[in-house]
Amino acid sequence: MSRFHLHRGAQIDELLSFAESQRWGGTYGPDLLRRFFTEFISDPVLVFDLWDTKQRVAVGVLLDKLRNPSNDACLELIGLAAGVDARAVIIEMVRSAASVLPASRSGLQLALPDHAGLSEAELETLGLRTFYDTFEMSRDLRNAATGRSPSIRIGERSDRDAVYQLAVEAFSENPDTSMPDEKTWKDHFLASPDSVFLLWENAGKLLGYANLIVDRQQQSAEVRTLGVSKTSRQRGIGTMLLRGALSIAKAKGMVTCHLTVAVQNRSALALYEREGFIVRKTFRCYRRGRNPSET
Ligand SMILES: CC(C)(COP(=O)(O)OP(=O)(O)OC[C@H]1O[C@@H](n2cnc3c(N)ncnc32)[C@H](O)[C@@H]1OP(=O)(O)O)[C@@H](O)C(=O)NCCC(=O)NCCS
Repeated sequence: MSRFHLHRGAQIDELLSFAESQRWGGTYGPDLLRRFFTEFISDPVLVFDLWDTKQRVAVGVLLDKLRNPSNDACLELIGLAAGVDARAVIIEMVRSAASVLPASRSGLQLALPDHAGLSEAELETLGLRTFYDTFEMSRDLRNAATGRSPSIRIGERSDRDAVYQLAVEAFSENPDTSMPDEKTWKDHFLASPDSVFLLWENAGKLLGYANLIVDRQQQSAEVRTLGVSKTSRQRGIGTMLLRGALSIAKAKGMVTCHLTVAVQNRSALALYEREGFIVRKTFRCYRRGRNPSET
């Protein structure tokens, strides 16, 4: 029998403040975490508020309103109380998530840091197969160059249709990329003053873009996305957009910049390494098919 039970009905603010103070997993800012609960799930049953006999031990969410090439929902463990065994929580969360996986989704995926410590046998029992690895990378901005290519302009609200179209095209083959539906994506475009889009155009056609998010409190920026149209790659556009993003982050007073990249994404990884990013953490993403025995 499980030593945890699922609690229902907690307010989002309560879950968010737990996740903020007992952070676990990805480097999501408070805005994005809130969207997990408000925009990226179709049903409150996809929130996992795990308690032991006395207290809340973990919070996770199965994001089913994100689209990715394998049509999976994404399980995110976002908060874990100090001293609680991550392994046992993950096992419970995967089981809970699998039992409420919406019928429209083919499976679920989740990323775990190296130290999560599940054995091969436990992974097998949960039906989890290795899917891809990701690096969390960062670089110091103090030595970043300032200024950006004159071909780059800052995106405005009126650019959102073109940027959305390019995002869908540029990331269509990335198994590690999950996007919200078109309406949610567009509603959120430039909704936060901390989000900057850098655009690369040629003859009025958008060929590449980067999305930079600044966290003024942490003085840390994130390159959330960098995408170049398939027919315009290998010409230096990605490099120039990345350099432009770093320069803007520095001008806004940020001290570091971080990003996440799939290890298998050789082209992006080489670009980030060339531009001074260093691997800080490794995550392994696992996938569980709807019927694990068939995956
Ligand atoms: C990753 C990505 C943004 C790179 O964009 P890009 O415009 O092709 O990047 P660049 O042209 O600056 O650099 C790519 C390569 O072209 C080479 N290159 C740059 N300028 C060049 C030029 N003038 N002539 C020939 N080659 C050139 C670079 O040396 C680099 O070589 P490498 O990949 O073998 O290391 C692009 O491949 C992409 O959109 N991929 C899909 C989305 C994605 O994965 N984004 C990153 C998510 S983390």
